[in-house]
Amino acid sequence: MRDRREDWDFADLGIKETQASTHFFHHWTAKFIPQIPRRVIERYSKRGDVVLDPFMGCGTTLVEAARLGRDSWGTDVNPLAVKIARAKTAGVRARQLEGFISWLEEAARRPHDHLADSALLFDGSGEWFREDVARAIRAVLDRAQQYRGNTLNLIEVGLSDLLKGMSNARMDRTIPTLPPVPEYTDKKHYDRTVNNETREINAFARLRAQLARMAAALAEFHREAEGTAEPLRRDARHLARAGRRAQLAVTSPPYWSAQNYQKMHLLSFRVLDLKEPGAAEIGRRSRDYLSDMDAVLGQLEEVLDGYFVLVIGESKNGIHEAVRDQCKAHGMRLVDTFRRRIVNQAFFAKAVKNEYVYVFRRSG
Ligand SMILES: C[S@@+](CC[C@H](N)C(=O)[O-])C[C@H]1O[C@@H](n2cnc3c(N)ncnc32)[C@H](O)[C@@H]1O
Repeated sequence: MRDRREDWDFADLGIKETQASTHFFHHWTAKFIPQIPRRVIERYSKRGDVVLDPFMGCGTTLVEAARLGRDSWGTDVNPLAVKIARAKTAGVRARQLEGFISWLEEAARRPHDHLADSALLFDGSGEWFREDVARAIRAVLDRAQQYRGNTLNLIEVGLSDLLKGMSNARMDRTIPTLPPVPEYTDKKHYDRTVNNETREINAFARLRAQLARMAAALAEFHREAEGTAEPLRRDARHLARAGRRAQLAVTSPPYWSAQNYQKMHLLSFRVLDLKEPGAAEIGRRSRDYLSDMDAVLGQLEEVLDGYFVLVIGESKNGIHEAVRDQCKAHGMRLVDTFRRRIVNQAFFAKAVKNEYVYVFRRSG
């Protein structure tokens, strides 16, 4: 056993470190700080090994695996998660992206000349977006249709991350919520007054800045990354059907009462017309949680040859221990346990203060 006092809190890290490389592309609640999978990959795998994250989320593990020269794959049932993971790891057509950014630059200078005729983004979008903002977003989406594959995906992910901030939704709520009147006090940001009718929102300029940062980070990522990353939209309860194997799996499963990713990313789902994962999502119904986790662990037995590292929130009702014991029942030997304070995730830390890093070895 290693020294239990070893520091896994990473309390001194700032946003610069936790959002380095392509990790800043899109917010995703309860995502890892990259330092966790990075340490796990360095310690429990070697070059040439394949790394798996069955609850991939926005792809933190895949990004770090690639940067450390490991091939990786990951699964998630949420189509937005898969889009984000793909945007963070896949190559794009740099020239095309530059062309799109130039168009945005021009549009940002003269927004009124570039607005689309239609302000319709989805049924009822008029409530969520001011007309000029909606027409700018419509213009962006229409223009982006010139592109395909990873380039189009990157543009959509860049836009998606900005949607809530450009909408009428309250800035001090995580789940998009409309204020009763256009002017309100934003309690999360120094009690400043926000007026949705008058505030400055140049959608073209915002997206231009975001995509320029993303393009630079992605180019840097591809200069250093030697491993390939394969984000798959799949249900982890049927992992083996992906027909791939791994020598290390590292993951942070959905929590007991899962984050409602659809509600949180409501505007992205609507604007990008994504399909909700529905019943495939583990954690939605608490009574099915342990049997769903059991199904995933059974599948892991089939695809994994080496270490399994489970990062799971401490819960008063002992769910983390129940899942740990399930792993043992699936023939995994517990070789290390670390308890860490969650200090780098302001929103999440309110609900879950500590988490465990359980390290198992498949003995098979
Ligand atoms: C705690 S998050 C993982 C975050 C990830 N570590 C990251 O850094 O982004 C849990 C993820 O499990 C996904 N999930 C829920 N049910 C699933 C299932 N049946 N198969 C695969 N993924 C699932 C959710 O969509 C969510 O993205």
